[in-house]
Amino acid sequence: MNNRGIMGDSISELATKSLVLNTMSEVLTFKDVSVVRGRKELLKDVSWEVKEGQRWIVVGPNGAGKSTLMNIAATRLHPTRGTADILGERLGRVSVFDLRPLIGLSSALVANSIPANENALNVVLTAAYGMTGRWREKYEKLDERRAFRLLHEWGMSTFMNQPFGKLSEGERKRVLIARALMTDPELLILDEPAAGLDLAGREELVAQMSELAADEDAPALVLVTHHLEEVPAGFTHILMMRDGQVVAAGEIDSTLTEENLELTYGMKLKLRREDGRYSAFAGA
Ligand SMILES: Nc1ncnc2c1ncn2[C@@H]1O[C@H](COP(=O)(O)OP(=O)(O)OP(=O)(O)O)[C@@H](O)[C@H]1O
Ligand SMILES: [Mg+2]
Repeated sequence: MNNRGIMGDSISELATKSLVLNTMSEVLTFKDVSVVRGRKELLKDVSWEVKEGQRWIVVGPNGAGKSTLMNIAATRLHPTRGTADILGERLGRVSVFDLRPLIGLSSALVANSIPANENALNVVLTAAYGMTGRWREKYEKLDERRAFRLLHEWGMSTFMNQPFGKLSEGERKRVLIARALMTDPELLILDEPAAGLDLAGREELVAQMSELAADEDAPALVLVTHHLEEVPAGFTHILMMRDGQVVAAGEIDSTLTEENLELTYGMKLKLRREDGRYSAFAGA
């Protein structure tokens, strides 16, 4: 992978001090990953491979285990059983603090961890140090410029001084994506980035995700969504989950089928594809 990054410049000292990657194409290699909490198996023997350059969609009903799986991929959670290799490093054998700058994550969990009074620029900026809340770190001018540029790219530069807690749902989503891109990650995980957006906001986000998908310098992408309308054109693979297990995984063209949708959601669904976009609705 080209190490220039999608923003074309270097970033914070800490991020550049992070792991130097081997030249390899495996981004995620999960083998028989299970997560057990009490008597409940949140994930059961999940095997999944993501390679460099791939763009994945993850779907499945509420409680299927999607966010749990994303939290493992983002090093926030360790499997109870099985192995998770992330960017060539085995989770549990490597410091997660070295891996984290290489993984951008936008999720409800991340949003909830951000202090409401933090302004939008600092929400993006603090990602360079893998933390939320601006305390006593000294930020480089370069990092500040990059944070501003990312906010600008995601249409949020005029909100740079606005406290995160006072932004609308859609504005917060955009700031979180800018934040996830701040460290120029190798892997970008977006867990329901379009939830709560209005129709125009969703369509803008989908278009931007589509552009990102087409950018060969962009990181490997994993996008969790409930709505097939939110699958951006250019996404290549899909992981379909139910009850903590993989129903199907593979290239979107051959994997996203009415049969697999029925297995995933337990109901008959009609699948439509038009101009590279999908939709699904209950059918006979
Ligand atoms: N710490 C925990 N202890 C017990 N159960 C948990 C814990 N964390 C999550 N769960 C359960 O694990 C299951 C999977 O949760 P997860 O958040 O991964 O689902 P999801 O597929 O992301 O769902 P959604 O589409 O609603 O976001 C849910 O039934 C949830 O209640
Ligand atoms: Mg979830």
